[in-house]
Amino acid sequence: MKLGILSSGGDCPGINATIRGVGKTALNHFGMEVVGIRYGFQGLLNRDYMPLGDKELSGLLNLGGTILGTSREKPFRQMLESGDSGKLQAVVGNYRDLGLDCLVCIGGNGTQKTAYQVFKLGLNVIGIPKTIDNDVFGTDFTFGFNSAVHIATEAIDRLHSTASSHNRVMVIELMGHRAGWITLYAGMAGGADVILLPELGCDVDKVNETILKRAKKGKSYSIVAVGEGLKLNGTEGNPASRLSKLICKGTEIETREIILGHVQRGGNPSAHDRNLATRLGGYATEMISKHQFGRMVAVVGSQITSLPLEEVAGKTKLVTPDNDLILQGKRLGVFFGI
Ligand code: F6P
Repeated sequence: MKLGILSSGGDCPGINATIRGVGKTALNHFGMEVVGIRYGFQGLLNRDYMPLGDKELSGLLNLGGTILGTSREKPFRQMLESGDSGKLQAVVGNYRDLGLDCLVCIGGNGTQKTAYQVFKLGLNVIGIPKTIDNDVFGTDFTFGFNSAVHIATEAIDRLHSTASSHNRVMVIELMGHRAGWITLYAGMAGGADVILLPELGCDVDKVNETILKRAKKGKSYSIVAVGEGLKLNGTEGNPASRLSKLICKGTEIETREIILGHVQRGGNPSAHDRNLATRLGGYATEMISKHQFGRMVAVVGSQITSLPLEEVAGKTKLVTPDNDLILQGKRLGVFFGI
Protein backbone atom coordinates (compact mmCIF):
# COMPACT_ATOMS: atom_id res chain seq x y z
CA MET A 1 0.00 0.00 0.00
CA LYS A 2 1.04 3.61 -0.49
CA LEU A 3 0.11 6.34 2.02
CA GLY A 4 0.07 10.09 1.66
CA ILE A 5 0.40 12.17 4.86
CA LEU A 6 -0.44 15.83 5.25
CA SER A 7 -0.68 18.29 8.13
CA SER A 8 -3.18 21.12 7.90
CA GLY A 9 -4.25 24.08 10.08
CA GLY A 10 -2.08 25.64 12.82
CA ASP A 11 1.08 23.75 13.73
CA CYS A 12 1.57 22.24 17.19
CA PRO A 13 4.15 20.16 19.06
CA GLY A 14 3.87 16.48 18.14
CA ILE A 15 3.01 16.63 14.42
CA ASN A 16 6.46 15.41 13.44
CA ALA A 17 6.28 12.64 16.05
CA THR A 18 2.96 11.59 14.44
CA ILE A 19 4.44 11.65 10.93
CA ARG A 20 7.22 9.46 12.32
CA GLY A 21 4.71 7.18 14.08
CA VAL A 22 2.71 6.63 10.89
CA GLY A 23 5.74 6.54 8.60
CA LYS A 24 7.95 4.17 10.54
CA THR A 25 5.07 1.82 11.33
CA ALA A 26 4.09 1.83 7.65
CA LEU A 27 7.64 1.25 6.41
CA ASN A 28 9.05 -1.08 9.04
CA HIS A 29 6.04 -3.08 10.18
CA PHE A 30 3.63 -3.16 7.23
CA GLY A 31 6.06 -2.71 4.33
CA MET A 32 4.05 0.22 2.94
CA GLU A 33 5.33 3.21 0.99
CA VAL A 34 4.89 6.74 2.34
CA VAL A 35 4.72 10.14 0.64
CA GLY A 36 4.57 13.52 2.37
CA ILE A 37 2.14 16.09 0.96
CA ARG A 38 3.34 19.61 1.62
CA TYR A 39 1.33 22.53 3.04
CA GLY A 40 -1.86 20.64 3.75
CA PHE A 41 -4.57 19.98 1.17
CA GLN A 42 -3.01 22.69 -0.98
CA GLY A 43 -0.14 20.29 -1.69
CA LEU A 44 -2.51 17.71 -3.12
CA LEU A 45 -3.92 20.31 -5.46
CA ASN A 46 -0.50 21.67 -6.45
CA ARG A 47 1.26 18.27 -6.62
CA ASP A 48 3.69 19.45 -3.94
CA TYR A 49 5.10 16.21 -2.51
CA MET A 50 8.20 14.95 -0.71
CA PRO A 51 9.46 11.41 -0.17
CA LEU A 52 9.21 10.01 3.35
CA GLY A 53 11.77 7.25 3.67
CA ASP A 54 13.95 6.10 6.56
CA LYS A 55 16.20 9.14 6.26
CA GLU A 56 13.39 11.72 6.27
CA LEU A 57 11.62 9.97 9.16
CA SER A 58 14.65 10.14 11.45
CA GLY A 59 15.17 12.85 14.05
CA LEU A 60 11.48 13.80 14.17
CA LEU A 61 10.37 12.57 17.59
CA ASN A 62 11.28 15.71 19.53
CA LEU A 63 11.08 18.24 16.71
CA GLY A 64 8.41 20.99 16.97
CA GLY A 65 6.34 22.24 14.01
CA THR A 66 5.90 20.04 10.93
CA ILE A 67 8.48 19.05 8.33
CA LEU A 68 5.65 18.90 5.77
CA GLY A 69 4.66 22.52 6.30
CA THR A 70 1.04 23.41 6.97
CA SER A 71 -1.52 25.91 5.85
CA ARG A 72 -4.79 27.44 7.00
CA GLU A 73 -5.89 27.74 3.36
CA LYS A 74 -9.08 25.79 2.76
CA PRO A 75 -8.97 24.95 -0.95
CA PHE A 76 -11.61 22.25 -0.60
CA ARG A 77 -14.07 24.49 1.16
CA GLN A 78 -13.64 27.14 -1.53
CA MET A 79 -13.94 24.50 -4.26
CA LEU A 80 -17.05 22.93 -2.76
CA GLU A 81 -18.67 26.28 -2.07
CA SER A 82 -17.97 27.60 -5.58
CA GLY A 83 -18.83 24.24 -7.17
CA ASP A 84 -15.44 24.28 -8.95
CA SER A 85 -15.58 20.67 -10.09
CA GLY A 86 -12.41 21.08 -12.20
CA LYS A 87 -10.25 21.55 -9.09
CA LEU A 88 -12.01 18.75 -7.24
CA GLN A 89 -11.33 16.42 -10.14
CA ALA A 90 -7.70 17.58 -10.18
CA VAL A 91 -7.33 16.63 -6.51
CA VAL A 92 -8.88 13.21 -7.07
CA GLY A 93 -6.72 12.79 -10.19
CA ASN A 94 -3.53 13.73 -8.30
CA TYR A 95 -4.36 11.21 -5.55
CA ARG A 96 -4.82 8.52 -8.20
CA ASP A 97 -1.72 9.59 -10.22
CA LEU A 98 0.36 9.36 -7.05
CA GLY A 99 -0.94 5.81 -6.64
CA LEU A 100 -2.18 6.49 -3.10
CA ASP A 101 -4.25 3.95 -1.19
CA CYS A 102 -4.97 6.31 1.69
CA LEU A 103 -4.57 9.93 2.75
CA VAL A 104 -3.65 10.53 6.41
CA CYS A 105 -4.92 13.96 7.49
CA ILE A 106 -3.28 15.36 10.64
CA GLY A 107 -5.23 18.39 11.83
CA GLY A 108 -7.84 20.03 14.00
CA ASN A 109 -11.59 20.46 13.56
CA GLY A 110 -11.36 22.18 10.17
CA THR A 111 -9.03 19.49 8.83
CA GLN A 112 -11.26 16.65 10.01
CA LYS A 113 -14.23 18.34 8.34
CA THR A 114 -12.28 18.62 5.08
CA ALA A 115 -11.08 15.02 5.47
CA TYR A 116 -14.71 13.93 5.60
CA GLN A 117 -15.48 15.92 2.43
CA VAL A 118 -12.52 14.26 0.69
CA PHE A 119 -13.72 10.85 1.89
CA LYS A 120 -17.12 11.58 0.37
CA LEU A 121 -15.35 12.28 -2.95
CA GLY A 122 -14.31 8.64 -2.92
CA LEU A 123 -10.77 8.87 -1.52
CA ASN A 124 -9.63 6.66 1.36
CA VAL A 125 -8.97 8.89 4.34
CA ILE A 126 -7.91 8.56 7.99
CA GLY A 127 -7.91 11.56 10.35
CA ILE A 128 -5.51 12.11 13.25
CA PRO A 129 -6.59 14.88 15.66
CA LYS A 130 -4.10 17.61 16.45
CA THR A 131 -4.24 21.01 18.18
CA ILE A 132 -2.96 22.72 21.29
CA ASP A 133 -6.59 23.81 21.89
CA ASN A 134 -7.79 20.23 22.68
CA ASP A 135 -11.15 21.06 21.12
CA VAL A 136 -11.48 18.26 18.55
CA PHE A 137 -14.79 16.49 19.00
CA GLY A 138 -14.70 12.76 19.73
CA THR A 139 -11.29 12.56 21.41
CA ASP A 140 -10.58 13.23 25.09
CA PHE A 141 -7.16 14.67 24.22
CA THR A 142 -5.19 15.91 21.22
CA PHE A 143 -1.41 15.86 21.08
CA GLY A 144 0.03 19.36 21.43
CA PHE A 145 -2.31 20.20 24.31
CA ASN A 146 -0.12 18.77 27.06
CA SER A 147 2.96 20.58 25.67
CA ALA A 148 1.06 23.89 25.51
CA VAL A 149 -0.29 23.44 29.05
CA HIS A 150 3.28 22.91 30.33
CA ILE A 151 4.45 26.15 28.71
CA ALA A 152 1.41 28.12 29.91
CA THR A 153 1.76 26.73 33.46
CA GLU A 154 5.42 27.71 33.60
CA ALA A 155 4.47 31.20 32.44
CA ILE A 156 1.87 31.52 35.22
CA ASP A 157 4.38 30.17 37.77
CA ARG A 158 6.77 32.94 36.74
CA LEU A 159 4.14 35.65 37.25
CA HIS A 160 3.66 34.89 40.94
CA SER A 161 6.94 36.51 42.00
CA THR A 162 6.32 39.89 40.36
CA ALA A 163 2.66 39.84 41.37
CA SER A 164 3.54 39.28 45.04
CA SER A 165 6.55 41.61 45.14
CA HIS A 166 4.58 44.52 43.63
CA ASN A 167 1.10 43.73 44.99
CA ARG A 168 -0.29 43.58 41.48
CA VAL A 169 -3.00 41.81 39.55
CA MET A 170 -1.48 39.91 36.62
CA VAL A 171 -3.89 39.03 33.81
CA ILE A 172 -2.50 36.36 31.48
CA GLU A 173 -4.21 35.58 28.17
CA LEU A 174 -3.89 32.02 26.92
CA MET A 175 -4.71 30.47 23.55
CA GLY A 176 -7.89 28.66 22.56
CA HIS A 177 -10.06 30.53 20.15
CA ARG A 178 -13.37 28.95 21.15
CA ALA A 179 -12.33 26.52 23.87
CA GLY A 180 -10.83 27.27 27.26
CA TRP A 181 -9.03 23.95 27.79
CA ILE A 182 -5.52 25.44 27.99
CA THR A 183 -6.75 28.23 30.29
CA LEU A 184 -8.51 25.75 32.58
CA TYR A 185 -5.65 23.24 32.82
CA ALA A 186 -2.80 25.76 33.02
CA GLY A 187 -4.81 28.11 35.22
CA MET A 188 -5.46 25.35 37.73
CA ALA A 189 -1.92 23.94 37.55
CA GLY A 190 -0.41 27.43 37.91
CA GLY A 191 -2.61 28.34 40.88
CA ALA A 192 -4.54 31.18 39.20
CA ASP A 193 -7.06 32.86 41.49
CA VAL A 194 -9.50 33.73 38.72
CA ILE A 195 -9.96 31.55 35.61
CA LEU A 196 -12.06 32.94 32.78
CA LEU A 197 -13.15 30.63 29.97
CA PRO A 198 -14.89 31.56 26.70
CA GLU A 199 -17.49 28.86 27.43
CA LEU A 200 -18.50 30.26 30.84
CA GLY A 201 -18.29 34.02 30.23
CA CYS A 202 -17.42 36.62 32.83
CA ASP A 203 -19.06 39.21 35.06
CA VAL A 204 -16.34 41.85 35.51
CA ASP A 205 -17.93 43.27 38.68
CA LYS A 206 -17.74 39.83 40.29
CA VAL A 207 -14.11 39.44 39.20
CA ASN A 208 -13.32 42.76 40.88
CA GLU A 209 -15.24 41.75 44.02
CA THR A 210 -13.20 38.52 44.17
CA ILE A 211 -9.91 40.41 43.88
CA LEU A 212 -10.95 42.98 46.52
CA LYS A 213 -12.09 40.21 48.90
CA ARG A 214 -8.68 38.58 48.52
CA ALA A 215 -6.96 41.92 49.25
CA LYS A 216 -9.09 42.33 52.42
CA LYS A 217 -7.93 38.92 53.57
CA GLY A 218 -4.32 40.08 53.17
CA LYS A 219 -3.76 38.46 49.79
CA SER A 220 -2.28 41.48 48.15
CA TYR A 221 -1.98 40.06 44.65
CA SER A 222 -4.04 38.01 42.23
CA ILE A 223 -3.40 36.01 39.08
CA VAL A 224 -6.14 36.00 36.45
CA ALA A 225 -5.95 33.46 33.59
CA VAL A 226 -8.16 34.37 30.65
CA GLY A 227 -8.90 32.43 27.45
CA GLU A 228 -8.33 34.41 24.26
CA GLY A 229 -11.88 33.69 23.07
CA LEU A 230 -13.60 35.23 26.12
CA LYS A 231 -16.18 37.83 25.16
CA LEU A 232 -16.32 40.97 27.32
CA ASN A 233 -19.53 42.97 27.13
CA GLY A 234 -20.57 40.77 24.22
CA THR A 235 -17.50 41.40 22.08
CA GLU A 236 -14.45 39.28 21.31
CA GLY A 237 -10.85 40.37 21.04
CA ASN A 238 -7.98 41.40 23.34
CA PRO A 239 -9.63 40.17 26.55
CA ALA A 240 -6.47 40.51 28.68
CA SER A 241 -5.80 44.11 27.85
CA ARG A 242 -9.47 45.12 28.12
CA LEU A 243 -9.92 43.18 31.34
CA SER A 244 -6.78 44.52 32.98
CA LYS A 245 -8.04 48.10 32.44
CA LEU A 246 -11.44 47.20 33.89
CA ILE A 247 -9.85 45.48 36.90
CA CYS A 248 -7.48 48.38 37.54
CA LYS A 249 -10.40 50.84 37.35
CA GLY A 250 -12.72 48.69 39.49
CA THR A 251 -10.23 47.70 42.22
CA GLU A 252 -7.65 50.50 42.09
CA ILE A 253 -4.97 47.83 42.26
CA GLU A 254 -2.07 48.07 39.84
CA THR A 255 -2.66 45.62 37.01
CA ARG A 256 -0.57 44.21 34.14
CA GLU A 257 -1.53 42.09 31.16
CA ILE A 258 0.52 39.34 29.52
CA ILE A 259 -0.39 37.76 26.18
CA LEU A 260 1.46 34.47 25.88
CA GLY A 261 0.48 33.89 22.23
CA HIS A 262 2.35 31.57 19.90
CA VAL A 263 5.00 30.71 22.49
CA GLN A 264 2.40 28.12 23.58
CA ARG A 265 2.51 26.43 20.19
CA GLY A 266 6.26 26.38 19.71
CA GLY A 267 9.14 24.07 20.52
CA ASN A 268 9.50 20.42 21.38
CA PRO A 269 6.55 18.20 22.32
CA SER A 270 6.33 16.97 25.92
CA ALA A 271 7.09 13.30 26.61
CA HIS A 272 3.33 12.73 27.00
CA ASP A 273 2.60 14.21 23.56
CA ARG A 274 5.44 12.27 21.89
CA ASN A 275 4.01 9.01 23.17
CA LEU A 276 0.44 10.00 22.32
CA ALA A 277 1.57 10.89 18.78
CA THR A 278 3.32 7.53 18.45
CA ARG A 279 0.24 5.65 19.68
CA LEU A 280 -2.19 7.55 17.42
CA GLY A 281 0.11 7.26 14.39
CA GLY A 282 0.66 3.54 14.89
CA TYR A 283 -3.04 2.87 15.44
CA ALA A 284 -3.98 4.86 12.31
CA THR A 285 -1.52 2.85 10.22
CA GLU A 286 -2.90 -0.41 11.56
CA MET A 287 -6.40 0.73 10.59
CA ILE A 288 -5.17 1.51 7.08
CA SER A 289 -3.67 -1.99 6.84
CA LYS A 290 -7.18 -3.31 7.62
CA HIS A 291 -8.76 -1.00 5.03
CA GLN A 292 -10.73 0.86 7.70
CA PHE A 293 -11.22 4.30 6.18
CA GLY A 294 -13.35 7.39 6.73
CA ARG A 295 -12.54 7.43 10.44
CA MET A 296 -10.59 9.57 12.92
CA VAL A 297 -8.39 7.97 15.57
CA ALA A 298 -9.16 9.18 19.08
CA VAL A 299 -8.28 8.88 22.76
CA VAL A 300 -11.18 7.72 24.90
CA GLY A 301 -10.23 7.19 28.53
CA SER A 302 -6.83 5.57 28.37
CA GLN A 303 -7.53 3.71 25.11
CA ILE A 304 -6.85 4.60 21.50
CA THR A 305 -9.90 3.98 19.34
CA SER A 306 -11.60 5.53 16.30
CA LEU A 307 -14.92 7.01 15.22
CA PRO A 308 -16.47 7.90 11.85
CA LEU A 309 -15.37 11.28 10.44
CA GLU A 310 -19.05 11.89 9.80
CA GLU A 311 -19.59 12.07 13.58
CA VAL A 312 -16.69 14.51 14.05
CA ALA A 313 -17.17 16.88 11.11
CA GLY A 314 -18.41 20.35 12.02
CA LYS A 315 -18.35 19.86 15.80
CA THR A 316 -16.21 21.38 18.57
CA LYS A 317 -15.47 19.96 22.02
CA LEU A 318 -15.91 22.71 24.59
CA VAL A 319 -15.35 22.87 28.35
CA THR A 320 -18.61 22.30 30.22
CA PRO A 321 -19.44 23.80 33.65
CA ASP A 322 -19.55 20.32 35.23
CA ASN A 323 -15.88 19.66 34.38
CA ASP A 324 -14.23 18.01 37.37
CA LEU A 325 -11.36 20.51 37.42
CA ILE A 326 -13.84 23.39 37.63
CA LEU A 327 -15.79 21.71 40.43
CA GLN A 328 -12.65 21.03 42.43
CA GLY A 329 -11.28 24.52 41.70
CA LYS A 330 -14.46 26.14 43.02
CA ARG A 331 -14.10 24.18 46.27
CA LEU A 332 -10.60 25.64 46.65
CA GLY A 333 -11.91 29.16 46.16
CA VAL A 334 -10.93 29.74 42.52
CA PHE A 335 -13.38 32.10 40.82
CA PHE A 336 -14.60 31.07 37.35
CA GLY A 337 -16.12 34.32 36.16
CA ILE A 338 -19.83 34.00 37.01
O1 F6P B 1 -5.87 26.45 16.92
C1 F6P B 1 -4.68 26.73 17.55
C2 F6P B 1 -4.51 28.21 17.71
O2 F6P B 1 -3.24 28.43 18.25
C3 F6P B 1 -5.58 28.92 18.54
O3 F6P B 1 -5.37 28.70 19.90
C4 F6P B 1 -5.43 30.34 18.09
O4 F6P B 1 -6.64 31.03 18.25
C5 F6P B 1 -5.09 30.19 16.65
O5 F6P B 1 -4.56 28.89 16.49
C6 F6P B 1 -4.09 31.18 16.14
O6 F6P B 1 -3.91 30.95 14.78
P1 F6P B 1 -2.79 31.62 13.87
O7 F6P B 1 -1.47 30.98 14.19
O8 F6P B 1 -3.24 31.33 12.48
O9 F6P B 1 -2.78 33.08 14.21
